[in-house]
Amino acid sequence: MDLAITGKRVLVTGGTRGLGKATVLALARGGAKVVTCHRQAGEAADELSRELKEFGDDHHVVRADVTSADDVRRLAAVCGEAFGELDVVVDNVGVAAEAPMDELSGEEWQRVIGTNLTSHFLVTQAALPLLSEGASVIYIGASAALRGRPATAHYSASKAALIGLTRSLAKELGSRGIRVNTIAPGVIDKGEALPPPLRQRLAGMTALGRLGTADDLVGAVLFFAGDLSRYITGTTLNVDGGI
Ligand SMILES: NC(=O)c1ccc[n+]([C@@H]2O[C@H](COP(=O)([O-])OP(=O)(O)OC[C@H]3O[C@@H](n4cnc5c(N)ncnc54)[C@H](OP(=O)(O)O)[C@@H]3O)[C@@H](O)[C@H]2O)c1
Repeated sequence: MDLAITGKRVLVTGGTRGLGKATVLALARGGAKVVTCHRQAGEAADELSRELKEFGDDHHVVRADVTSADDVRRLAAVCGEAFGELDVVVDNVGVAAEAPMDELSGEEWQRVIGTNLTSHFLVTQAALPLLSEGASVIYIGASAALRGRPATAHYSASKAALIGLTRSLAKELGSRGIRVNTIAPGVIDKGEALPPPLRQRLAGMTALGRLGTADDLVGAVLFFAGDLSRYITGTTLNVDGGI
């Protein structure tokens, strides 16, 4: 059984910052070949390209907005040209959002659903012809989807929809040996300056008494990317310290 991710051909969406970046670097460090994308030009993308050089020339950082069908088609074409097939897709792009229902505009609803849900449809459909037999599709959801929280109905709804997408696609693609799973992070500490009382309150909500780290999430991604999870599909794994 291949426990590692060496040689796997991977697409990670939204890899220039945050959890996506930690995932890209962990995969590259483990010997995978990675295409990743971002939306905005700037230092974050340049810095990632420089960092990836340390792990060889098989990695590509592409500017492509995953809410645009044209951009996603172009992104899939890059994957096809670079690797021929994809063994793993980590569909990580998502946006956090807060607004009480009586102030939530239609535009904001569409922005959040477009980024957190429709983009996953676009990326999955474009990647489908490239997926190798036994490929692993991993969506990054949120454990908030199952709990709910005031002023985040649009966010929770978008993330909850990924669970249904996961369950149905697992059944649709299982005959090709393709697995589809969602990882649902809780509150992950990305090094932002959180006010200490808020940090304490959020940590206190977890069974483990601390916020998650990017590495905590990456461990779950590597598990689903590799063959250790080969009989697991259609599932949602909370990585939230037991909220
Ligand atoms: N952080 C947490 O505590 C937490 C908790 C629960 C769930 N999650 C989920 O985990 C995932 C990653 O979150 P994060 O906090 O690491 O995000 P982040 O720090 O905001 O980074 C987002 C990444 O995605 C890219 N991106 C955003 N919109 C894009 C688009 N339309 N097209 C292409 N790329 C796009 C960004 O690139 P640009 O900079 O170029 O825009 C950036 O590289 C999300 O799905 C999020 O909902 C995070």
